[in-house]
Amino acid sequence: MVGRKIQKTDDDYIQEAMHELPYGIYVIGTTRDGKPNGMIADWVMQVSFSPRLVLAAFERDSSSLARIREHGFYTVNLLPQKDGLLIAQRFVQPSNAAKVRGRSDEAAAQQHDKLAGTDYRLSERAPGCPILEDAIAYLECAAEQFIDAGDHVLVTARVLYGAVQHSGDPLTSTYTGWSYSG
Ligand SMILES: Cc1cc2nc3c(=O)[nH]c(=O)nc-3n(C[C@H](O)[C@H](O)[C@H](O)COP(=O)(O)O)c2cc1C
Repeated sequence: MVGRKIQKTDDDYIQEAMHELPYGIYVIGTTRDGKPNGMIADWVMQVSFSPRLVLAAFERDSSSLARIREHGFYTVNLLPQKDGLLIAQRFVQPSNAAKVRGRSDEAAAQQHDKLAGTDYRLSERAPGCPILEDAIAYLECAAEQFIDAGDHVLVTARVLYGAVQHSGDPLTSTYTGWSYSG
């Protein structure tokens, strides 16, 4: 059998280059109807010194985005490299099981409690949003602008408060090898 040479496209090269960009691994905390939620996110960054603003990019159908639109607040939790992978794995599933294609109606109707088994407290400044006890650092944020950007929605937010809780290296995409880019 003659081996077929697979030709890479420009898109493949772009994707490879974008996979090289390093990201922190964050848990974005939100709440609705007294139920806190955590969503794993890479696309989080500071965008202004004065006032202090951060930005997070959300998939249009993420339940976290819907919570922020309703409630107006979120927390940003930076995971630690030490044991952070175990924590991160708990947040990989969507809270709304129907978001995963191909699930049965019964499985799709389930709501997944991603915070189960994780120590957290509820923020007062970002009311009801979870602050993970193991986070190296956290930010409490008030949403300001919702900006459509391709298949994501950028949510800028004013940083109301933030603190470092532990020393140590942060969990990053370079360390996990997980890729949410490209
Ligand atoms: C490593 C990793 C990074 C991710 N980064 C983002 C992100 O920056 N923005 C986003 O909307 N989704 C991101 N996701 C996907 C969300 O975590 C996922 O869609 C989640 O189901 C949404 O949860 P929610 O429905 O509880 O809001 C990422 C997933 C992984 C595994």
